[in-house]
Amino acid sequence: MKALALNGSARKDWNTAKMLESALAGAKDAGAETKLVNLFDLDYKGCRGCSACKLLGGKFYGACAQQDGLTAILEEAKNADVLFLGSPIYFSDVTGMMRNFIERFLFPTLTYSKDMHRLYTKRVKVGLVYTFNAPDGFYNDYFAGQQAIFNAMIGDTEYVYAAETLQFTDYSKYDADMFDPEQRKTRHETVFPEDCRKAYEMGKRLAEK
Ligand SMILES: Cc1cc2nc3c(=O)[nH]c(=O)nc-3n(C[C@H](O)[C@H](O)[C@H](O)COP(=O)(O)O)c2cc1C
Repeated sequence: MKALALNGSARKDWNTAKMLESALAGAKDAGAETKLVNLFDLDYKGCRGCSACKLLGGKFYGACAQQDGLTAILEEAKNADVLFLGSPIYFSDVTGMMRNFIERFLFPTLTYSKDMHRLYTKRVKVGLVYTFNAPDGFYNDYFAGQQAIFNAMIGDTEYVYAAETLQFTDYSKYDADMFDPEQRKTRHETVFPEDCRKAYEMGKRLAEK
């Protein structure tokens, strides 16, 4: 049983990383072998729309033809039993690095066939992990949309999130007076551990399924 987590934040010790570590801890307690990869350590680009992954009889049918820093990770993600995808919300979406990963992970399994068959043979359980500044529930429609896409294309999918995260250690140093630093700090100390516990439970649940 293998659980792979991909972090779409450049900040390796911050909110998204902590949530992903919790999800992996849950999967580990359910017996999984775990691994975390920081997407910012890899050199890769997004989907080029070459459609080699759909070329009948082609060498790359069902796989991404681009050979770069993401190639090995795409293989690992396809072959994992549980996949955790973690990202901060940047301008109401995942980060560019996570977006590029998602394009190259999802497009090769998709066909434009009438029966809508998929090309990945294995179903992978997916845990989506998000962190952001906005209040609880703000992005739930977006998360539900992503969950539906991963459910249809990859495997059983759940999501967890941490809202109103601590973005700066010292808010007074930044042009950011719309936030109440004390509220953020208190929330980080009281609610964020609970968010991490939810990530842990999700990780355990998906690995046990
Ligand atoms: C470039 C950028 C864009 C952001 N856009 C949003 C946004 O649209 N909505 C939001 O709620 N938070 C936004 N945030 C805040 C982050 O999502 C939040 O601080 C997140 O927890 C950071 O994750 P990290 O600590 O793992 O890096 C943005 C932060 C940055 C740096």
